[in-house]
Amino acid sequence: MYQVLEKAKLIWEANSELIDFCHIEGSLLSNNLTPTTTAGSLLVTKAEYRASKKTIPLIQAIKKHAHEARWLQTYSTSEVGKDFSNRHCYFELIGPKGHFYNDKIRAFICYWGKHLNYKWHSHEAEELYYVLGGQATFRTMTVEKVLKAGDTQFHKSWESHSMDTLEEPILAFILWRGNGLNKLAKIDE
Ligand SMILES: [Fe+2]
Repeated sequence: MYQVLEKAKLIWEANSELIDFCHIEGSLLSNNLTPTTTAGSLLVTKAEYRASKKTIPLIQAIKKHAHEARWLQTYSTSEVGKDFSNRHCYFELIGPKGHFYNDKIRAFICYWGKHLNYKWHSHEAEELYYVLGGQATFRTMTVEKVLKAGDTQFHKSWESHSMDTLEEPILAFILWRGNGLNKLAKIDE
């Protein structure tokens, strides 16, 4: 998992939006998490992602080390449906319960399969998406746009947002900061 952390840091430290949102100082201690799988996590390594020169090294590291990750799902099947549960998953790379410990921020690697609707949802923590590969339509109450590799999207505290993946899976690097860091997102619909 150190490889994933190193490649994520390379992207982070070269992107002013990511740096301005939050940054980490010094080295991070490993939480020595036990790997887990979900239905969706088995799809992460099989997918081909439309990426950019900057994001390819992190995508390759994620695929190579996917079997070391503690893959999770945020929502129950009754909230989001079986298809979404089977084809969405994430792991916490950095954070209180992440592969590397930090109590001020959280960094996630998230996967969604193609043609999935991520319902309107919100969370107290502020959030910055950075797309690694694939494309999806992102929505807030005021903005709707298609994001591709290297694009970012900011969400304020409790700002409701939704997403539709297009004809390909999407892989994203997501940062959280501020109040509610330890709480989960909730479905708003
Ligand atoms: Fe979010």
